[in-house]
Amino acid sequence: MKIGVTSDLHTDVTPLNKQILPHIVEAVEKAGLDIFILAGDLSPNLLELANILTVFTESSLNCPKLFVPGNHDIWISEHPDITSEQKYEAITAVCRECDFQPLDAMPFVKDGVGFCGTIGWYDYSFRPKKYNFSGQQYASKQLSGSVWNDSNYAKWNGTDPEIAHRFENKLREQIRSIKDSVSQIIVTTHHVPFQECVQSRGTLPWDFFSAYMGSQGLGKTCLEEELVTHVLFGHTHTPIHQQIGNVTAICSPIGYLHQAPTCNLSTYAQERLTCFEI
Ligand SMILES: [Fe+2]
Ligand SMILES: [Fe+2]
Repeated sequence: MKIGVTSDLHTDVTPLNKQILPHIVEAVEKAGLDIFILAGDLSPNLLELANILTVFTESSLNCPKLFVPGNHDIWISEHPDITSEQKYEAITAVCRECDFQPLDAMPFVKDGVGFCGTIGWYDYSFRPKKYNFSGQQYASKQLSGSVWNDSNYAKWNGTDPEIAHRFENKLREQIRSIKDSVSQIIVTTHHVPFQECVQSRGTLPWDFFSAYMGSQGLGKTCLEEELVTHVLFGHTHTPIHQQIGNVTAICSPIGYLHQAPTCNLSTYAQERLTCFEI
């Protein structure tokens, strides 16, 4: 079974992020996949998100397509009267309309392989221990004039640790619900499941914002079930392929294209579609 994953298309951020979309579709079409996974951060605009999913659905890709939303997807910047929970529900509906499996809503099983997923969130457990910022400071998501934009646009009914634990519990429940009927489990999250995958620069404010990368509980949930062999994620815009215990951790993001990549867009799209066989 050949699985392909990419994430963080961010088509609203730069013209190049929009221009690269057909190249990503072409890379996916040519890859001969049995499963295609998008690990979140397409666009805060629900219509644009739907349009992106539709482009894949209308392509010659002929395999199951799985999706978990990213933090930018649940932003309510264009719908300030709703909560992120409501946006999240709307995304689930859009996914189904566009023939993508919303992994958050339900695990997916193909040929005895289980696919579980969640957006995940952060509980500040990835905060760098060498700094002594308070919990209140991390909750403010601001440091020295730099702002983590979830503070403006992510509106959950709960604190960040509560939301992170809500999604960790949902993932644990998904894994529990399928583990007796599958031979292997692939987990997809948007937020980063392992602190080992978070890069420190040793400078502020960068290191402060590590607190918003993910949660230790996400990775722990994956490591405690031996059937989980791969954890795919997005959110950090640096490609990662790393072994953590029994789990292969893969992040394969497009990221912000404020500057043109050194290779052409077609090559870049191919490079940022990570494919692997199980
Ligand atoms: Fe992103
Ligand atoms: Fe993200």
